[in-house]
Amino acid sequence: VTTHNGDWTEVVNKLVEDKIASRIAAKDATIWGPDAESEASIRLGWVDLHETSRPLLVEIEALQAALRAEGIDRVVLSGMGGSSLAPEVITRTAGVDLVVLDSTDPSVVARALAGDLSKTVVVVSSKSGGTVETDSHRRTFVKAFTDAGIDAASRIVVVTDPGSPFEKLSADEGYRKTFLADPNVGGRYSALTAFGLVPSGLAGADIAELLEQAAEAAPSLQADSTDNPALWLGAVLAASEGRDKAIITADGSDIVGFPDWAEQLIAESTGKLGTGVLPVAVELGAPELTSEAADLTNALLAGKPTSGVPTALTSGSLGGQFLLWEVATAVAGYLLGIDPFDQPDVESAKKAARGLLDAQPEPEEAAFTDGVVEV
Ligand code: PA5
Repeated sequence: VTTHNGDWTEVVNKLVEDKIASRIAAKDATIWGPDAESEASIRLGWVDLHETSRPLLVEIEALQAALRAEGIDRVVLSGMGGSSLAPEVITRTAGVDLVVLDSTDPSVVARALAGDLSKTVVVVSSKSGGTVETDSHRRTFVKAFTDAGIDAASRIVVVTDPGSPFEKLSADEGYRKTFLADPNVGGRYSALTAFGLVPSGLAGADIAELLEQAAEAAPSLQADSTDNPALWLGAVLAASEGRDKAIITADGSDIVGFPDWAEQLIAESTGKLGTGVLPVAVELGAPELTSEAADLTNALLAGKPTSGVPTALTSGSLGGQFLLWEVATAVAGYLLGIDPFDQPDVESAKKAARGLLDAQPEPEEAAFTDGVVEV
């Protein structure tokens, strides 16, 4: 890792002059170039989720109350990447339990199954409604509930996009509830949609406060001003010259697990067409890396005016931080000349995985035993 010791003032001044922040707030997709009207690029629904997601709060609260009245208070989330990282941060920061199934590692699945099923609800989260790992966990839990004599349909809550295979499946199977999210918000930008809010809210996190925090931060992140921290952060994320990695840590913050979420956001949004930096999330308490991260941070901050990045990046609320890093990533995409909202490689990997499965006969004899799927 080498440190970029440049000064981003010029870049930020140009961003202010081009009114990038207010144009993002106004959902102006032309920022990302002539192809910006393509389906892949019009994904700016995340900019005002602190307003548009409000009606969800009542629905989630009602479902939580109904589940609690039935003694169901253990929440398992089946989801990958953009459908799991945000709720993990939200619940860890709030200090409430959420069992996150974002891996097919048999020991992880076995741990999730080992809890008290009579108190368990499973949130199956997938925008596309076709992610193999997520669907595999759904099937595993349907079988586990059924084997335990529990009505599986009453214990499954689906979060997906309208028209996805999961929406149909949920209706056909009579699952407990389906939350349909805004298709104009990509997976990694979906922290404040049903994808972040449903599992977190059911687990007991204060999701109303989260939206409040984002609403409070929004005006400063939408301002065409050199005081807007998202412009500085975007400039830093785009300045790959002289370095190839960016260490992301949450040193001194009471927000837990945030670097993992930011790592995915930045990597998937800006790491394409041979550009961008490799973001590396560093957990607190990794002593050999913490001092290096601190050195890098100091060097980074030394290149900026004191009224800019430092305070905004080292303090703040979780809701505000989600929005800050999302705006910054969109800004970085603009500076790098790439679409920060598509993910061609993820899509082709999913297609390949699905193709391999479709080529296999349906594993009717599959059984889950002690953490190992036997076919
Ligand atoms: O950001 C993304 O697009 C990905 O990380 C997805 O969130 C992840 O692949 C899960 O996709 P889906 O929600 O469609 O199951």
